[in-house]
Amino acid sequence: MELAKRLAALAAYVPAGGIAADIGTDHAYLPIFLIEAGISEKVIATDLNPGPLESAKRAVEKRHLEDHVDLRLGDGLKTLLPGEAEVLVLAGMGGNTIKEILAAGPGVLKSVNRLVMQPMADAGDLRIWLAGNGWKIIGEKLVDEDGRLYQIVVAEPGRELFDDKLCLELGPRLIEGRDPLLNAYLGKIIEQYERALSGMASGKNNAAREKAGLLKNKLERIRKVVGRCL
Ligand SMILES: C[S@@+](CC[C@H](N)C(=O)[O-])C[C@H]1O[C@@H](n2cnc3c(N)ncnc32)[C@H](O)[C@@H]1O
Repeated sequence: MELAKRLAALAAYVPAGGIAADIGTDHAYLPIFLIEAGISEKVIATDLNPGPLESAKRAVEKRHLEDHVDLRLGDGLKTLLPGEAEVLVLAGMGGNTIKEILAAGPGVLKSVNRLVMQPMADAGDLRIWLAGNGWKIIGEKLVDEDGRLYQIVVAEPGRELFDDKLCLELGPRLIEGRDPLLNAYLGKIIEQYERALSGMASGKNNAAREKAGLLKNKLERIRKVVGRCL
């Protein structure tokens, strides 16, 4: 199976050998690729909803990979026993959903040595949670697929040395590593803040003015970080 850019970039962070679990697998493209490429011998593929799991089942059966992809229906890490998977992939869900899934499964997380994540939104909240819960962000990557920028965040047990919330929000390893798409990514963030600010410009009451002030302050800090980075 050939993967689109986003899933291929995720697969590149799954180490060869060991058992990986793809939480929220949907179509099971990633587990199928990991098996067919010889990266994994066995992948646990889970989904909360019967519909996506059914489509995963069809894709797995079509390729006769039933002995290699273990399909499970259920919520987050509740489908796993501690020690069953060393690598977890959580992709295509909101950053806060990923955070909640991780926070709800401390027993399973104890035996996990890598998290490969691709939050669709709220990546900052996820990074802040990771840094505060014994995970070090060891790699980050931006992927442009069909004109949309996706963030990949990879974490391993350890201490994240960056405790600056704004850097964590933006992506410390993206910044340090000067990701090739960093310029476009930071430009988009600044644009979002500017748009939100201009929408608030007409706010006349104190609360609106206060909110606009906070946003303006944050935008200035982002511009400073960006200035330091680029
Ligand atoms: C947009 S799809 C992403 C599929 C695939 N991971 C990818 O990146 O292409 C998100 C999937 O996550 C599943 N999902 C959402 N919350 C979940 C949870 N708490 N536990 C397991 N799966 C979940 C949804 O049912 C859906 O199939």
